Amino acid sequence: MKPKIYISDLGKHVGEEVTLKGWLFNKRSSGKVKFLILRDGSGYLQCVVFKGNVSEEVFNSCEELTQESSFEVTGKVKEEPRAVGGFELDAVDVKIISVCSEYPITPKEHGIEFLIDNRHLWLRSKKQHAILKIRHRIIKAIRDFFDERGFTLFDPPIITPNACEGTSTLFEFDYFDLGKAYLTQSGQLYAEAGAMAFGKVYTFGPTFRAEKSKTRRHLTEFWMVEPEMAFYDLDDDMDLAEEFLEYIVQTVLTNMKDELATLERDTSKLEKVLRPFPRISYDDAVKILHENNIEFAWGNDFGATDETTISNQFDRPVMVHRYPSEIKAFYMKRDPLNEKVALAVDVLAPEGYGEIIGGSQREDNLDFLIQRIQEHNLPQSFFEWYLDLRRFGSVPHAGFGLGLERTVSWICGIDHLREAIPFPRMIYRNTP
Ligand code: 4AD
Ligand code: MG
Repeated sequence: MKPKIYISDLGKHVGEEVTLKGWLFNKRSSGKVKFLILRDGSGYLQCVVFKGNVSEEVFNSCEELTQESSFEVTGKVKEEPRAVGGFELDAVDVKIISVCSEYPITPKEHGIEFLIDNRHLWLRSKKQHAILKIRHRIIKAIRDFFDERGFTLFDPPIITPNACEGTSTLFEFDYFDLGKAYLTQSGQLYAEAGAMAFGKVYTFGPTFRAEKSKTRRHLTEFWMVEPEMAFYDLDDDMDLAEEFLEYIVQTVLTNMKDELATLERDTSKLEKVLRPFPRISYDDAVKILHENNIEFAWGNDFGATDETTISNQFDRPVMVHRYPSEIKAFYMKRDPLNEKVALAVDVLAPEGYGEIIGGSQREDNLDFLIQRIQEHNLPQSFFEWYLDLRRFGSVPHAGFGLGLERTVSWICGIDHLREAIPFPRMIYRNTP
């Protein structure tokens, strides 16, 4: 079998005759020559079709090639620094596979609703392609980071019998004869069982929140990575979070230069994402708001503009710790030095991207945890297995969750989460 050759491999084939397959991105012609820009998913390539180099039939058939028509082209690979990608193909043959009739997305401007309606096609455009390539690289960086540090990948269930992150955003459905079941909001509770078995684990998968808000930062289906570590306290958790974020950002900067350039991302802002990150308490964050003449009462949660004001004080992600326990989840441990606050941390991204990580040290005391479950009106019977983790060899432990789409949006510099996932799900959209 002839090996398949892609545009991204052309460096290894200079001077050779190769056959490539793909779609027409664009074309120009001037008399005796046609320039076909081929797109094959791995890159873009200018194919030069000289009238004298191909049969008349082939030369004329190039007229039929419209935007996004699929075709096969054979020719010799030349180095050409002025062309996109640095190579050019001197075509000797062109075979049309399928002529595309009136592709809906033309090079002119389209409205965002039209583009999302055509998400299945919009994915082919340069900017969307660059974003999803960066998403892929971030996912690999996340896996590499944990795999290289002794973590075990631990897959939690998606169908769950109870809430993890509060009951207001649950997707509910009937589960045979067993009553209500819910789509998972977070794999954390299961990750805690994993940490007691493997020491250090991470979950990585889709999570669901019936978010009733239409903000640019909320999806109803999003991907979250959640490390969970036995014998970690809040400070250890923050150390890991900052090392992790530095690793992701620096890996993308090193490996995804072309895509960041396509997105016209100001990379100088990302270059500053180096440890140590500032660590401030919730109390300090409230002071920042007051210094900026923002009305804010202690005990409330920060809104999007509050988060922006806080993060604008810093040139790298800021870790805000020790939130009022009232506004945080039932499983978070209270600070032994101040019962009013939980040993929680949120990491706020720079440039107004808001919360990208939420984490905490977990309540490891059986009696306190039962008390919290009761205070939150959660059905204790469903949590008995979780309470067993405190009955049978309880240890201090901590973890956090990073939202993948928020991280992709921040690193790509895009302003809405809907472009950071192939097919976004939001309160007002579940198609295509
Ligand atoms: O802060 P959250 O709710 O934390 C948890 O779920 C914990 N169980 C994590 C843990 O400690 N293991 O969510 C974590 C992150 C947020 O910081 C945000 O980045 C992202 O998940 N996130 C969302 N992303 C997109 N759309 C939504 N509706 C999101 N809700 C949370
Ligand atoms: Mg949170």
